[in-house]
Formats: sequence, C-alpha cells, structure tokens
Amino acid sequence: MRIDIITLFPEFFEGIKDYSIVGRAIGSGKVELVTHNLRDWASGKYKSVDDHPYGGGVGMMLRFDILHKALSDIKSNLKSQMANSQIITILLTPQGQVYKQKMAQDLAKETNLIVICGHYEGFDERIREYVDMEISIGDYVLTGGELAAMVIVDSVARLLPGVLGDDKSSIDESHSPSTSSGQALLEYPQYTRPDEYDGKKVPEILLGGNHKEIDAWRKEQVEERTKVRRPDLLNVG
Ligand code: 6GU
Repeated sequence: MRIDIITLFPEFFEGIKDYSIVGRAIGSGKVELVTHNLRDWASGKYKSVDDHPYGGGVGMMLRFDILHKALSDIKSNLKSQMANSQIITILLTPQGQVYKQKMAQDLAKETNLIVICGHYEGFDERIREYVDMEISIGDYVLTGGELAAMVIVDSVARLLPGVLGDDKSSIDESHSPSTSSGQALLEYPQYTRPDEYDGKKVPEILLGGNHKEIDAWRKEQVEERTKVRRPDLLNVG
C-alpha cells in the first residue's frame, strides 16, 4: 500500500518512518509513506498557504487553490505510475466521520491513500468536494491533522498481511468486529509469566490447559469487560 500525505509539517512523519512496526513495514516495502509539503505548491515571495476567512472571523485557513493543485498533481503522478489503481483521498477534520477499527480494516484493503492534514482554523470549504471521505479521530480538537494521519497510518499498516508477526494477532483484539457476532468488543484479559507475583495470581483456568474451558472463559470475559467498561459498544452494528 502507498500512502501520500499532504502536510505543512513533513518532519512530523520522520519518527514513524524510522521506528516501530510501521517503520519495519516501510523498510520491507509493505507500506510506502510519501510526505508532501503543501508549501511546495505555494507561490510568491512568502509562499503563503493560508489566508483570512471571507466575511470576517478569527484564524487563518488553508487556501483552496493550493490544496487543489497539490491534490491534482499528486493524483496525476500516481495515475501515471500505476495505471489502474484506485486512489482514496481522505481529508482530516474534526467534522469528519469518527474513525473506528472497521474503517481501518476497510482502508487496509486499498492500494493508494492520499491523506490531507488540515491546519490552523481549517481549510476553505471548497476542497471538500474533491475528497472521497472525511475522517476525525475523536471528539476533541487537534492543532492539525498530522497526529490523526499517524493514527491512521499506524492502525492501517498493522493490518496489512505480514506486518505483524502473527497474522492472527490483529483479528482477536479489542474493537475488531468478531466474525460470529459482528460486534466490536473489548479483548479478554491476558497474562504471562510469572504465574504469581506480589500475591497476585494468574486465573487458575489459564494454567490448566483445557482449551475448551479457556475459550469459554475468554468469551465470558469479553462480554463482561465490554459491559463494564464500554457498554456503548454492546448492541450496536
Ligand atoms: Cl482529523 N483534525 C483535527 N484538527 N482535530 C481533530 C481531528 C482531526 N480528529 C479529532 N480532532
């Protein structure tokens, strides 16, 4: 998968490129992360990318013409390189659809994403017509879309085949819609050695080796955890 990111702060993404599981996925060619500085499409002495809102109001907004040029150039370059691959363009904004694991799973099936990081007080409304989707990562406001872009890159990259050591480890986890119920629930509690420390013991059932019983216990824990911690996740889609 190739992910192109349009941002005013490409340096933000150096960390994610070099470290962690995402860095490894990039190193092995499973993910290609290409950052573009929006300022490269600005003209004039000051290379300004933003301006005041028409009609008055506080703050600066990203200009439509500059965002549009950046997006068109990146799109046409991609199209010339990869004849018939579908490109999904994403605008990051607190007004977008709230990001969920199901969206990560859907995005992980794509070959090309272009992600636009909003900034300042936002962007000129007209760019909305040129994107396929708008995403928010939650109900709070960030100074820019960069952290949201990293959330998306990380959550999508780890779902790609071969990125995690064990392909199953991204199936049996919190927020992943399970195949049986279709519900996204919280993961069951897990333990590793030692089996007792500071007076705290690992549940007996996990030490016994009866996998049928263990599976039943885990299923029960999933329901109980979700009921206590995230009742909002129960009885929804
Ligand atoms: Cl995608 N952008 C900004 N600026 N704030 C956010 C967000 C995105 N998602 C949640 N808050």
